[in-house]
Amino acid sequence: MSQKDRYAVIGNPIEHSKSPWIHAKFAEQTGEPVEYGRILGPLDGFEREVRSFIASGGRGMNVTVPFKLEAHALADSLSPRAAAAGAVNTLAFGSDGVRGDNTDGVGLVRDIEVNLGVSLKGARILLLGAGGAARGVVLPIFDRAPAALTIVNRTAAKAHQLVDQFARNAAECGVRFSGGGADSAEAGRYDVIVNATAGSLDAALPDCDDSVFGAGTLAYDMMYGAQPTVFMQHAAKLGAHAADGLGMLVEQAAESFFIWRGVRPDGGAVLRELRQTLAAKA
Ligand code: ATR
Repeated sequence: MSQKDRYAVIGNPIEHSKSPWIHAKFAEQTGEPVEYGRILGPLDGFEREVRSFIASGGRGMNVTVPFKLEAHALADSLSPRAAAAGAVNTLAFGSDGVRGDNTDGVGLVRDIEVNLGVSLKGARILLLGAGGAARGVVLPIFDRAPAALTIVNRTAAKAHQLVDQFARNAAECGVRFSGGGADSAEAGRYDVIVNATAGSLDAALPDCDDSVFGAGTLAYDMMYGAQPTVFMQHAAKLGAHAADGLGMLVEQAAESFFIWRGVRPDGGAVLRELRQTLAAKA
């Protein structure tokens, strides 16, 4: 019988998830007695799977597409960032019930600042998209004290909703905060542009004026794949430095590991190894 504490990622589909590999590396690196598996959640049976994992001694779960909203609804208590995001990617099971958290936003911010070395303090940031992925990163971005955050979305009303939801937080953090449809970007080059649209999945480029990209811009796509996304290719043609979301994946995992174990793994080292592994397979 294994003496290790059990964790798992649940999603549908799940077979290509890199989380078990990443967490195995974190366990090796930190010496924590962690065993981490993957669970294919039936589309109509998310809660049943979670309850059965808890009953069998599971300590925590990562939650991925399409269950992040259901995980938010299932949790007995929520961290402030999960409540603001309206979605949960990390569940911790304890004597006080199921605790829901969201580590995606912190994962993005850590990848940009620590792994890519771009400080968000005082930066002008453009966020493309206003769905769940975008909502989850707004507060963690404010926490880094940027000068401005603009949200641009194909459907202007959804960007306006996010601006309304987070206007008070922006004022408290002293961040200039606005948003709307495709023509709502401020004039001139942005320091950081984050693509949080689902566009890369179907190779669609989000609508956005070319003039916001420049030589000093970091263009960050939350998606990743074997090849640079259309957004990354477009940004690189306009002189920007393009990055994919693989580091965000590793850093959100590192934050989940920290929540569960109280030990922070070195995400950068695991990211370098993951990139090498993927390059060797390509
Ligand atoms: P997620 O949880 O991944 O954010 P979502 O909540 O469905 O998924 O949001 C998808 C986001 O991608 C939205 O901002 C969506 O724009 P709309 O609000 O106008 O639908 C954006 N999106 C999806 N496909 C897109 C495309 N082809 N071009 C531009 N934006 C796109």
